[in-house]
Amino acid sequence: MSAAADFLRDRLGGRKPKVAMVLGSGLGGLVADMEDAVRIPFAEVPNFPASRVTGHAGEVIAGRLGGREVMVISGRVHYYETGDPAAMRPVIEAIHALGIGHLLLTNSAGAVRADLAPGSVMMMTDHIAFSGLNPLIGEDTDQRFVGMTAAYDAGLRSAMVGTAEGLGEPLAQGVYMWFSGPSFETPAEIRMARILGADAVGMSTVPETILARFFGLKVVAASVITNLGAGMTGGELSHTETKEMAPKGGARLGRIIRAMLEKGVFDG
Ligand code: HPA
Repeated sequence: MSAAADFLRDRLGGRKPKVAMVLGSGLGGLVADMEDAVRIPFAEVPNFPASRVTGHAGEVIAGRLGGREVMVISGRVHYYETGDPAAMRPVIEAIHALGIGHLLLTNSAGAVRADLAPGSVMMMTDHIAFSGLNPLIGEDTDQRFVGMTAAYDAGLRSAMVGTAEGLGEPLAQGVYMWFSGPSFETPAEIRMARILGADAVGMSTVPETILARFFGLKVVAASVITNLGAGMTGGELSHTETKEMAPKGGARLGRIIRAMLEKGVFDG
């Protein structure tokens, strides 16, 4: 049994979320809308990782959103912070040990496809672990050979598409390619990503998806497009630019997520 799960179960005080959500930048609005929320800093949870991304301490927030109990992971730990692709393993393991069966992952990403404008949202249909890293390296059971044919759950994906259509919110779909970061890609790497079949590039999510599949969670994931990939416009990329663009797409994705909760997509 996970010490983190035991600790969290106690702090959740009877709340029984059916979905955990890793919210990236631009989705803070959803947390602000949560009712009856309890906030638990990562630092208090046994074995949880410490995140150091500018001003974002990791936090678990459990409460109600769209009429459903949810558990939000705010301030994920990226591979580039620690050099450990399994940095999020204690978090994903605790989610599983709490009996939560669904994981919704969000990220910000750069577009590889020119029609994915900054501010748009792309649901991930699949991914490419281009970093070559894997959070399950060193795992010594046969369960390490996790099937990734249907990494992103077909039922949850069609529910997300249907929900976005119902709201009239545009929702692109595509393949996310994981680069380690923290430097952005070069223009040549973006051209390579395009040739290899990527629609967007980013520095997170893929290790969490692999861990989630290892623990048997159903995954649905979406990217907030903050910028066109390196070399697709005249200018240099910057973290400031990506942070400034996150709220617009984040608000769109937030509306879709809230409506999915209201419809009971994660109730089963
Ligand atoms: N590349 C990688 N990660 C990102 C980008 C990008 O262009 N934009 C936001 N996250």
